[in-house]
Amino acid sequence: MGCTSEPAKPLLSDLASSVSHVPSNFIRPLSDRPNLQEVQSSDAVSIPLIDLQGLHGQNRPQIIQNIAQACQDYGFFRVVNHGVPESVVDEMVKVSREFFRLPESERLKSYSDDPMKTTRLSTSFNVKTEKVANWRDFLRLHCYPLEDYVHEWPTNPPSFREDVGEYCRKVRKLALELLEAISESLGLEKDYIDKALGKHGQHLAINYYPPCPQPELTYGLPGHADPNAITILLQDDVPGLQVLKDGKWIAVNPIPNTFTVNIGDQIQVISNDKYKSVLHRAVVNCEKERMSIPTFYCPSPDAVIGPAPQLIDNDHPLLYSSFTYSEYYKKFWNMGLSKETCVDLFKTRQSQHAN
Ligand code: OGA
Ligand code: NI
Repeated sequence: MGCTSEPAKPLLSDLASSVSHVPSNFIRPLSDRPNLQEVQSSDAVSIPLIDLQGLHGQNRPQIIQNIAQACQDYGFFRVVNHGVPESVVDEMVKVSREFFRLPESERLKSYSDDPMKTTRLSTSFNVKTEKVANWRDFLRLHCYPLEDYVHEWPTNPPSFREDVGEYCRKVRKLALELLEAISESLGLEKDYIDKALGKHGQHLAINYYPPCPQPELTYGLPGHADPNAITILLQDDVPGLQVLKDGKWIAVNPIPNTFTVNIGDQIQVISNDKYKSVLHRAVVNCEKERMSIPTFYCPSPDAVIGPAPQLIDNDHPLLYSSFTYSEYYKKFWNMGLSKETCVDLFKTRQSQHAN
């Protein structure tokens, strides 16, 4: 038809380097800005660092105890000795950087603004529904079962499929170990969460945050809770991730060879709020580009999610009605990132009244 409403430069990375001010569609209202000077450094309040060495041996009870404490107090923890080889992580970071440095025309081959597409490059969060844009581009891939999706992935850089595929396999192993540990830490059978998720889903995002001329005015990602079961985040060496704890934002600065793990909404529901899916955000800076690579481990779209019956008693009444994950996931993408989190929409009527 020759008539297109597509902007000339849909991706932020192709615009960011040519602007000296943040364009108006990225500027947050005054009441919703990062207030970077009020953020606590992670030296003051530290997200727990858990050593997974010996998880399958005599250290298991102590590690499970540490995970329980971290999930209750923070909804976040970091892991070392996680079993994902450093070389695999290094290749993942390298190929991701190379991808975002490809010429615009090459990157745009993967561009889509449809959140339900299983492989796509996009910008901000959901350009179809949001009012203010975020200072981020991202490539998002479904990656389990690998053979169902790998043929959709970019073929440039040439090693992309191999390097990312290997990273996904290794991180999946870690995700399964963490799900078992989290199940046990809730006093459930160790395969309880594994089974509750049905046929597992695994998504990977590569977030690319260009340097920003006015980081006080906008976000890489505003405060949000993750809709999935758990997230395993790899960040490069540039700070930007912040987590909300007791009403204050804490910077979670990068530590080499660690992953940052957080509880998503589905484990909050399964745990009947014993564990919380905590608000977190990504801020940007004027000097350096930043990359973060979250793995979102998810239920099957048709899995029916609800609180584990073993965790319900007189003192712990049922807080959520059951739902399918596909129902939940569509709501998440449509409502946009906000502090009113999606889980609240699935609370039982009684628990809404109690609040
Ligand atoms: C996310 C996220 C944080 C970061 O992609 O859901 O929270 O540091 N990312 O980029
Ligand atoms: Ni997140």
